Amino acid sequence: MSLAAVPEAVHVRAPGKINVYLGVGGRHDDGYHSLATVFQAVSLYEDVIAYPDDGFSLSVSGIDDPSTVPVDDRNLAMRAAKMLAAATGYTAGVHLELRKSVPVAGGMGGGSADAAAALVACDALWNTGLSPQRLHELAARLGADVPFALHGGTAVGTGRGDQLNPALARGRFDWVLVTSEAGLSTPAIYARLDEHRAQNGALADDPPLSLDVPIPVLQALRAGDPHSLAACMYNDLEVPALLERPSLDEVIKAGLEAGALSGIVSGSGPTIAFLCESPESARYVQGELQASGRVALHVHGPVAGARIISA
Ligand code: C5P
Repeated sequence: MSLAAVPEAVHVRAPGKINVYLGVGGRHDDGYHSLATVFQAVSLYEDVIAYPDDGFSLSVSGIDDPSTVPVDDRNLAMRAAKMLAAATGYTAGVHLELRKSVPVAGGMGGGSADAAAALVACDALWNTGLSPQRLHELAARLGADVPFALHGGTAVGTGRGDQLNPALARGRFDWVLVTSEAGLSTPAIYARLDEHRAQNGALADDPPLSLDVPIPVLQALRAGDPHSLAACMYNDLEVPALLERPSLDEVIKAGLEAGALSGIVSGSGPTIAFLCESPESARYVQGELQASGRVALHVHGPVAGARIISA
């Protein structure tokens, strides 16, 4: 490729996600748990802009305290860029600019969205031309939620959450998200779940190592019916997240009182996702929650996965 063909920058946008359903099974020897989950990508995005550079560097904006996001190899987007370079034999580097909107450590896969966006951006910037399957493989090595951030839409995740199958979802679903200033650690919430299950006498083979998403969840999505979906939304990580952050219970109650159909902890929390009947209802719920001093965002799903905005 000639030097003149190198873009000055590539801008990629990737969505945050809500786990509409999250069943957690047993813990494997590698520390990961079997999952049966339904992801929905929502209209809250991470923007990653990749600039050609000799080395690897990263900057972060869009959040009150950028120091909460590492800019070294602990950052999943940085790891994504280096993994792509190693996999393709690319010898120069990249500067990644992360413009964040998804809450940090909020249970919405913001770091995974950054990684997915970085993979797509670097692949375009470096003209490495990876196939979708290769991108998926690298994404799965980076983290369980990264493949979904690549694909977007609504999908069933099994295995560690990285084996994806698209789920049919009609229309749009309106969500109100209540964010928290302080995040929760995903590994700590899974560990808390294991502890809680052990204390409550879970049998050796209960929870199972392999589990399914209940049919009514898939039917509700296919029908585009928020009332049916609200009736079967569920998250196994809600109990440990509430044990870790009991105040979230008040948030859930406040959203339901304001008229949300259902409210659950998103992923490992602490973001709370409220499903609403309509855009109007969501705006009302958002207003009520904001009036009580909370940070509430109105988003919708499903939306597309990581995609190039400009190159
Ligand atoms: O893959 P990711 O980096 O997103 O996972 C973060 C942590 O969440 C893992 O280190 C693990 O403790 C926990 N996890 C899990 N089972 C999964 C996914 C994540 O135990 N299927």
